Amino acid sequence: AADRSASRASDRPLVIGHRGASGYRPEHTLEAYRLAIRMGADFVEPDLVSTKDGVLVARHENEISGTTDVSAHPEFATRKATKTIDGVAVTGWFTEDFTLAELKTLRAKERLPQVRVTNTAFDGRFEVPTLQEVIDLARNEGRARGRTIGIYPETKHPTYFASIGLALEEPLVTVLRANKLTRKNSPVIVQSFETANLRKLNRMIDVRLAQLLDAAGRPYDFTVAGDARTYQDLASAAGLKWIAGYADGIGANKNLIVPRDAAGKLLAPTNVVRDAHREGLIVHAWTFRVENQFLPVDFRIGTDPNARGDITSEYELFFRLGLDG
Ligand code: G3P
Ligand code: CA
Repeated sequence: AADRSASRASDRPLVIGHRGASGYRPEHTLEAYRLAIRMGADFVEPDLVSTKDGVLVARHENEISGTTDVSAHPEFATRKATKTIDGVAVTGWFTEDFTLAELKTLRAKERLPQVRVTNTAFDGRFEVPTLQEVIDLARNEGRARGRTIGIYPETKHPTYFASIGLALEEPLVTVLRANKLTRKNSPVIVQSFETANLRKLNRMIDVRLAQLLDAAGRPYDFTVAGDARTYQDLASAAGLKWIAGYADGIGANKNLIVPRDAAGKLLAPTNVVRDAHREGLIVHAWTFRVENQFLPVDFRIGTDPNARGDITSEYELFFRLGLDG
């Protein structure tokens, strides 16, 4: 994994449209991704789950009552179920119980209607997109704008999906290959909280990979398949070295990089960026949200490094640190 060209010297951060322009359109819809691109995002970020027929679709969770109108469809009432997903009991409707054709009869709705009030105007209008549709959109929008739009897909609950016979890796590799999206010719970075998922992908396809880490420096699975060592803290120097054996970078919770005290005040940066760069890893941080007041509401992402407003705290700090790599 010597080619780190997804990272670049730049006078502005790399902007990843998290779930699309999700502050302005219901997340993970083509309309949200399109707006993110039009606002200047370099990448769009589809979270991926599987349908019953093994098609990858963009949803943050496989349980979809909060992000679609499924509960208003009487024909699907009997599909409501309670399942244990990664140790948590979840009740609702699940993508793996719907074929793609059935899922396409649903419409997206705003996940956080109280926070993103204006987004509710779009409820009931947009479909749940497939990964292929996201790729097509990025290509077409990029072509129209004379720039390349990256895709930053995240595999959600890969161990769970494998346990029900719907492993995410195979369909993901199939789609990437069919679209010629490999390291050589595309700005694609696949991210996951599960180390085993990325290690498997690393064996299957030559594409950039990013290990997600939470604020405590942990992946979600903690399992180091096929390796005798287990790092409780993958953000340590040793853990980052190990990650560099299968991935190109880390996607770190921003508080892993710049921690906060109990009152929420930002503290001095940790050594994570330095240590990751020593291993040749790119570093991307998540997530900056308008409603958390990390950015002024009218800030146009990625286009104006001198943006006005109170952009003096987290964004500026991250900008100075050059956390895009
Ligand atoms: O890129 C990492 C970030 O997307 C993880 O957070 O929004 O998928 O829960 P999320
Ligand atoms: Ca994500």
